Amino acid sequence: MAVGIFDSGLGGLTILDAVQARLADQDFVYLADSANAPYGVRTPDDIYDLTVAATQRLFNAGCDLVVLACNTASAAALRRMQENWVPSDKRVLGVFVPLIEALTERHWGDNSPPRQVAVNHVALFATPATVATRAFQRELSFRAIGVDVEAQACGGVVDAIEDGDMILADALVRSHVDALKRKMPHPQAAILGCTHYPLLKDTFLEALGAEVSVFSQADLVAESLADYLIRHPDKTGGGTAAFLTTGDPKRVSARATQFLRRGITFTAA
Ligand code: DGL
Repeated sequence: MAVGIFDSGLGGLTILDAVQARLADQDFVYLADSANAPYGVRTPDDIYDLTVAATQRLFNAGCDLVVLACNTASAAALRRMQENWVPSDKRVLGVFVPLIEALTERHWGDNSPPRQVAVNHVALFATPATVATRAFQRELSFRAIGVDVEAQACGGVVDAIEDGDMILADALVRSHVDALKRKMPHPQAAILGCTHYPLLKDTFLEALGAEVSVFSQADLVAESLADYLIRHPDKTGGGTAAFLTTGDPKRVSARATQFLRRGITFTAA
């Protein structure tokens, strides 16, 4: 059975890459809702409706397990989907919790009460919609006490990446890091809370400085998905991947190939 990987656009490919490297025999279907990207400026209802439609599309493609490789969808839609919509024979997982478990030094399924952790000053970079939900702070408060989170809504970055304008994306990241540092001059850790941002990881690292540890969501999600699949071993296959988009397949394939530096061919969803 293939695992579905969903993002509004190309950002989820950073997750797919890490997951494929970790799980060589697993089949994947990737869906980019390019026609409706970016999600980060939409309302929670809108994000919910679009995420449900995309997840259904992946269920229809034969995926019983779908990973929302999109922080905006995970923050704004996942809990509501799990409570009201996901059929009992399907699973939908998000990308937030593995990251927070790593930050709070927990293993999967550790539901013990919140406790003090090593990192106390955390910078969160995410889309405006993700920041507005405060989902990161909520999930963190279930697991840790005394962590000060400063969130920076990084308007414009996803649009610039989807348009292939990396000069603009680079300039925007630097100005968002400056804005964050005015509010929190010495963060100990930074979370790249949008799956598009690893495409600009070097810019974040340079602008933040060597003393800030940057958490890599892709590797953490890959580990956590590997963990899940080992506990549900019926889901392996031949290591294939299919790429679907609601946008223009030619344009999306060209951008994806540019970002991941390997040939990727999308077809119409
Ligand atoms: N890459 C997605 C995320 O992780 C969504 C970006 C967007 O569509 O605004 O938040």
